[in-house]
Amino acid sequence: MLEIRDLSAGYGHRHVLEHISLKASEGEVVGIIGPNGSGKTTLLKTITKVLEPISGTVLIDGTNVNEMQSTQIAKKVAVVSQVISINFEFTVEDIVLMGRTPYIKGSETFEDINIVRDAMEKTNTLFLKDRLITQLSGGELQRVIIARAFAQNPKILLLDEPTSHLDITNQIDILNLVKNASRKGMVVVAVIHDLNLAAYYCDKICLLQDGELISTGTPEQVLTSSNIERAFNIAVKVIPNEITNSLYVIPVLEPLHETLH
Ligand SMILES: Nc1ncnc2c1ncn2[C@@H]1O[C@H](COP(=O)(O)OP(=O)(O)OP(=O)(O)O)[C@@H](O)[C@H]1O
Ligand SMILES: [Mg+2]
Repeated sequence: MLEIRDLSAGYGHRHVLEHISLKASEGEVVGIIGPNGSGKTTLLKTITKVLEPISGTVLIDGTNVNEMQSTQIAKKVAVVSQVISINFEFTVEDIVLMGRTPYIKGSETFEDINIVRDAMEKTNTLFLKDRLITQLSGGELQRVIIARAFAQNPKILLLDEPTSHLDITNQIDILNLVKNASRKGMVVVAVIHDLNLAAYYCDKICLLQDGELISTGTPEQVLTSSNIERAFNIAVKVIPNEITNSLYVIPVLEPLHETLH
């Protein structure tokens, strides 16, 4: 479904990604992890042609994205960006309806309205529908942008730190929603900083360090203490999490000493 072959990318003379290859298939949640500045967002940008690769190819359903029109890409791929800034006074409903843009010829149909409503229900944003987008909390805004992505009805959903502004309940609700969508056939690629959430929700994890993919595989294969220590330069313990049947990544912290006198 989504295949990246030997991709290198960067900005001007600056190389950021080197020789990245990965595949994400229907029904899979693929997590991208790695330190700040390691190239995670840059990788997502190349998938939607926001950034042209220096070399290598991105294939969607076997077609090179270079040969696809942007509307064609928008019918297949939805993106939830890391930084969201909308300064126009649209309502929440207007913003979610924008997810239907690739499909709407003329004005929206009942089907479009139903899809938008359904996306807002799933993301717990329906109660916000008449509010202005400029007057939401960070977490509310993030859920609205996720609703817009769902309204786009994508085959491939790219999420760049989708839970960074969310409280624990909304983090779990959104990741459950994404996981269910993947089980129904969507390809999900998500940048996730929280290694414990990545371990639980991802079928496959790609670990980036300095623009290189240093490990790819199941959470058990990638989230080893040596990989994490190498990439993040921090000592960790990885233990089985029997409650969730997943892994527990625990940073080994020095005990805090009282410094105030
Ligand atoms: N528009 C740009 N022009 C020049 N350099 C950029 C640009 N955007 C990002 N970079 C650089 O590319 C490198 C990778 O950035 P990227 O945003 O992909 O990192 P990231 O892994 O998403 O980090 P974070 O976890 O902080 O979001 C960084 O060194 C960054 O400074
Ligand atoms: Mg980023």
